[in-house]
This record gives sequence, C-alpha cells and structure tokens, in this order.
Amino acid sequence: MFPYLLVILLSFSWKIRASAQPVEEIFLHCLSLRSGNSSIAKLVYTQHNSAYSSVLNSSAQNFRFTTPSTPKPLAIITPLLPSHIQATVYCCRKHGLQLRTRSGGHDFEGLSYSTTSCKVLFVVIDLVNLRSVRVDVEKASAWVESGATVGELYYEIARKSVTLAFPAGIGHTIGIGGHLSGGGYGSIFRKYGLAADNVLDARLIDVKGRILDRKLMGEDLFWAIRGGGGGSFGIVLAWKLKLVPVPANVTACLVTKTLEQNATKLVHRWQSIGHKLPKEVHTSFAISRVNSSQDGKMTVRASFGSVFLGTIDDLLPLMEEKFPELELSKQDCLEMSWAESILYSTLFTPGLPLETLLNRSQVSPLSKSFFKAKSDFVKQPIPESAFEGLWPKFYDEEARSATIVFVAYGGKMDEIPETESPYPHRAGNLYTILYIVDWKDDENVNSERYMNWMRRVYDYMAPYVSKSPREAYVNYRDLDIGANDINDHKGSYAQAKIWGPKYFKNNLDRLVQVKTRVDPENFFRHEQSIPPLP
Ligand SMILES: Cc1cc2nc3c(=O)[nH]c(=O)nc-3n(C[C@H](O)[C@H](O)[C@H](O)COP(=O)(O)OP(=O)(O)OC[C@H]3O[C@@H](n4cnc5c(N)ncnc54)[C@H](O)[C@@H]3O)c2cc1C
Ligand SMILES: *[C@@H]1O[C@H](CO)[C@@H](O)[C@H](O)[C@H]1NC(C)=O
Ligand SMILES: *[C@@H]1O[C@H](CO)[C@@H](O)[C@H](O)[C@H]1NC(C)=O
Ligand SMILES: *[C@@H]1O[C@H](CO)[C@@H](O)[C@H](O)[C@H]1NC(C)=O
Ligand SMILES: *[C@@H]1O[C@H](CO)[C@@H](O)[C@H](O)[C@H]1NC(C)=O
Ligand SMILES: *[C@@H]1O[C@H](CO)[C@@H](O)[C@H](O)[C@H]1NC(C)=O
Ligand SMILES: *[C@@H]1O[C@H](CO)[C@@H](O)[C@H](O)[C@H]1NC(C)=O
Repeated sequence: MFPYLLVILLSFSWKIRASAQPVEEIFLHCLSLRSGNSSIAKLVYTQHNSAYSSVLNSSAQNFRFTTPSTPKPLAIITPLLPSHIQATVYCCRKHGLQLRTRSGGHDFEGLSYSTTSCKVLFVVIDLVNLRSVRVDVEKASAWVESGATVGELYYEIARKSVTLAFPAGIGHTIGIGGHLSGGGYGSIFRKYGLAADNVLDARLIDVKGRILDRKLMGEDLFWAIRGGGGGSFGIVLAWKLKLVPVPANVTACLVTKTLEQNATKLVHRWQSIGHKLPKEVHTSFAISRVNSSQDGKMTVRASFGSVFLGTIDDLLPLMEEKFPELELSKQDCLEMSWAESILYSTLFTPGLPLETLLNRSQVSPLSKSFFKAKSDFVKQPIPESAFEGLWPKFYDEEARSATIVFVAYGGKMDEIPETESPYPHRAGNLYTILYIVDWKDDENVNSERYMNWMRRVYDYMAPYVSKSPREAYVNYRDLDIGANDINDHKGSYAQAKIWGPKYFKNNLDRLVQVKTRVDPENFFRHEQSIPPLP
C-alpha cells in the first residue's frame, strides 16, 4: 500500500510544481527547443517586453480591441521563416494554447489578435515579416505572401506593368491573408470576380505543421480556404494569383447629391441600373450626413463613385444612356492608372504618389478608429419610402460620422455558381450594403451607444434585404449574428448552424466536412471559425 501512496503523492507534487511554472515560460522553452535556432527569441514579444504593446497595436484597425480591458495574447510571434510558424503551431498544441493568425489586422471584430473571453490563453502569429511579392508579367501571375498588404501587391504589379491588376479590395492597407481567405472584392470584381476567384495555388501550414500546396492539400481544402473565412483551416503562407488585364488608364468619377438635389430619387433609380451596367463599370454610392453648403443645415448626402475600365469619352455617353438622371459630366471624372484609382477611391485626393500604397499606417475611412460595421445583400429594389425612413437616422447624435455604402453586383458575379467557392453571394444580388458607424472618443465608454445605433439601423433594414438567411459577408465580420462559445469548442457546431448559413448558405456543410477531415480536434478556432462535426 505504502509505495503506491508514495507514487500518488510524488506525482501530485510534481503536478503542482509543473503548474506553478507559468505556461508562458513553458511555451517559450518549447519554442526555442523546437525551432532549433535561438534567433527566434528576437521574434517573440511577451507582455514583459517593452515593444509588446506597440507590436500588438501596430496593425489593429479597430480601437474597440486595443483597450486595456481587451483580452491580450501571452505572446506575439513575428516569424521570418515558415519553420517559426511550424514551431509555434507545435508548441501551442502541445501546451493547450489557442493560436490566432494576423496578416493585416483588419478583422472588424479584432479576432486576429484578441478574443471575446478573458479565460482564453492564446498566442498571436503576426505575419508582418512574411510579405514578399513576386510578379511574373509574362505569365500574368504573382506569388504573394500573406503578410503583404493589397497595396504592396498593387504597387509591385504597377512597377512592372500598368496594364495588369488584381481584383482585390480598395482599402490598400488590408492584409492579403485575411482578405483572400474571406473572398475579397474591389473596383473590378464585376469584370473579374473576387480576389479568391483568382487564386491559382497556395501554401498552407496545417495543424500537423506540414506545408501543403494545392496538389498536396487536395481540391476540397483548396476550395475551403478561398472564401471560407480566415482562421479555420490552417495558416496560409502564400498565394499564387492570376493577374488580369486593365487599360493603361481607367476613369474614376465622383458625383455628390444631397437630399435637396434629389438624392433619394437617384438612389432609388440606381438600384435598377447598377447591376445591369457593362462589367467594365464599377458603381457604388456612400450615404453620410453633412452640413448643407447653402444654409449650413444638416442634410444627407449620397456620393456616387465609379471606376470604369476605359476612357472618360467612352463612359460619358454610356452613363447618359443608362443613367441620365445622375448627370455625370466630364468635370466629375479623372483618368489615371488603375493603381492610382485605388488610392483615389479611398482617399479622394488625386495625384498622390504611388508609394502611398506601401504606407501601412495610412489612415482611411474605417481604419484606426473605434467602429462597428455590418453587411447586407439586396435582391429587390428598396422602395423610395424606405430610404426616406432611413435618412432621419443619420441625424441622430451617434451618426455624426456614420456611412452606409451600396455597391452594385452583377456582371461576372452572376456567372459564377454559388458552390464554386464558399462565398455564396452571387447571382440574384442587385447590390451589397456595408454599414459603418465610427467614433473617435478616447475612451470606449460610449461604445454601446454607437453599437445600438448600428443595431437599430440594421433592424430597420430587415424587411428590405435578403431573408432566410439574412446574408452577410464573412470579411465584414459581425459577432452580433452569432458566435461560437470559445471556451467550449466542442459545442460550436450547434452555434455555427446559426451564423454559418448567413456567410456561406449551403456551402457551410462542405466547409464543416473539410474541417472535420483536416482539423478534427478544432485547433484552429475562433468565435466564428468553421467547427468540425461533433
Ligand atoms: C479599412 C478597411 C478597408 C476594407 N476594404 C475592403 C474592401 O475593399 N473589400 C473587401 O472585400 N473587404 C474589405 N475590408 C474587409 C477585409 O477584407 C477583411 O477585414 C479581411 O479579413 C482583412 O484581412 P487582414 O489580413 O487585414 O485581417 P486579419 O485581421 O489579419 O485577419 C482576418 C481573419 O483572417 C485570419 N487570417 C489572417 N491571416 C491569415 C492567414 N495567413 N491564414 C489563415 N487565416 C488568416 C485571422 O485569424 C482572422 O480570423 C476592409 C476592411 C477595413 C478595416
Ligand atoms: C536561424 O534563423 C535565422 C533567421 O531567423 C536564419 O537566417 C538562419 O539561417 C537560421 N539558422 C539555422 C541554423 O537554422
Ligand atoms: C495601444 O493602443 C491603445 C488604445 O488605442 C493605447 O491606449 C496604448 O497606449 C497603445 N500602445 C502603444 C504602445 O501605442
Ligand atoms: C428634382 O426633381 C424634380 C422633379 O423630379 C425637378 O423638378 C427638380 O428640378 C430636381 N431638382 C434638382 C436640384 O435637380
Ligand atoms: C455642422 O454644423 C454643426 C452645427 O450646426 C457643427 O457643430 C458641426 O461642426 C458642423 N459640421 C461640419 C463637418 O462642418
Ligand atoms: C493617363 O491619363 C493621364 C491624365 O489624363 C495622362 O496624363 C496620361 O498621359 C494618360 N496615360 C495614358 C497611357 O493614356
Ligand atoms: C503614412 O500615413 C500616415 C498617416 O496618414 C502619415 O502620418 C505618415 O507620414 C505616412 N508615412 C509615409 C512614409 O508617407
């Protein structure tokens, strides 16, 4: 009896000692052993490191997740080599730590660098150092690492050729890694589809630390990572992209109309026109509140933007025929290269140097502020009266710098079957809506007020937008539509049945099957990751 008791006592005291050593230390020890290269230490930031906070903040776009009360990672790793990522995956698994991957840090809910639960112990891999871009003009293709921004990609393409482009997003600071994982659309998606539709190959580190290309991962997993949302299947290191042709100059136009200038009628009319325009036209409008230049009174303004793959002289007669009410004129438009049009579409200042595309700290609408955003898809024109009911919400105090953006669909998007990639919002959509409310208050204390404004607007719009499910864009992440309980990952399948169809419709089932096969233990998980079957 005695020796048996001793064994129990001994193992008990060993356990106490083991758990007394902070998990952080155990993890760091594992990393240094595993990477077989002491230089990884310089790439690791723990809370004791004076640079920890600035590294954590560096690419965080939404200040709602940089407050003192936001759960923070035990450590941030900024790998220089794939082997550093492999070591991190191994050590996180071994020591029961969660792992978040950050490329550009633009996740609307901060899921690449924070969590909703302060009980979760997690580590962040920040891919900022893995951002090479290699463009092959002859083959019209490029290999780009996930840590690059889309601006870095566009810059590198433009340096080599003004007649090549890539159909990804407009905000140039967005990270390749998250953006391509969730679809990605920009000013030429009506012509060429989503960024994810133009991926030819990829290299992914899976849960076992293997590096898999398209051939090794198989078509199912390759399908899942192109639209199924980031953070569910592994860590994508790099993507091979198909570049697309554009004219040396494109045309970018901007027309603003206030309510007094019949904005309501124009907006209403636009709904039946935008999605039917030739694929070469990208058209959108943004609604916000302004002081009228006439009498200084508050009013609502619609800013109609377009990018056309052609000249001003070709665009004007086209718009005169299809949308005469807009009264688009030569003064509203500028010709510039496609890369310049990306800058112009976010910053509205013509003539900025192309190097601006490389500026990761460039502030644009939606970036580097407190914000809450949501999305919708619209299949039937919204009645004029509904728009009239929406405008007064912009006069609320919280809507000071709120914006609602409407982007026309159609074109190539109508031709790609819903099942071709996890991104299901294809034929039948007239346009998509992005709602944004942002605020600059130093403290997070008033956040609830703004969040509630956003929820009121979203509720108001319910009758006019897609239903069963009310669709949403996974790259415009919104935890209001449902979330996995991150502390109980075994139960997440039931929760994913609520939010999943909104992002993926029927493609959710296939995503779950792939996940079950490649990561059955649900290591790669977050509040809205694809769960394996229970
Ligand atoms: C200012 C701004 C402008 C935007 N403009 C557009 C636009 O024009 N068009 C559009 O479609 N969207 C746009 N978005 C949304 C954008 O596409 C998404 O936020 C996208 O997920 C950002 O990618 P990221 O790498 O910057 O984000 P991150 O926050 O780094 O990552 C987002 C998600 O992907 C995961 N992830 C990141 N890297 C990897 C990787 N290498 N492998 C696997 N998973 C990974 C993260 O863990 C997280 O779950 C914009 C967002 C902002 C804030
Ligand atoms: C150690 O890592 C550095 C970069 O972090 C790399 O340049 C070097 O080749 C590595 N050395 C070994 C022996 O792996
Ligand atoms: C990080 O951001 C938060 C909130 O914006 C701020 O309080 C903190 O000082 C920042 N830290 C650094 C080092 O910039
Ligand atoms: C608004 O529309 C009405 C009739 O549709 C028209 O008479 C009026 O001139 C328009 N106003 C402006 C500023 O275009
Ligand atoms: C609009 O007018 C209000 C008061 O009428 C003023 O407080 C506000 O600063 C003005 N906004 C802008 C952008 O000029
Ligand atoms: C593009 O447009 C600019 C501005 O109008 C003009 O200066 C330039 O020559 C044009 N380039 C080409 C290749 O047409
Ligand atoms: C990048 O943008 C930021 C914010 O707009 C600005 O302060 C900074 O000077 C820019 N950096 C460069 C190198 O232009």
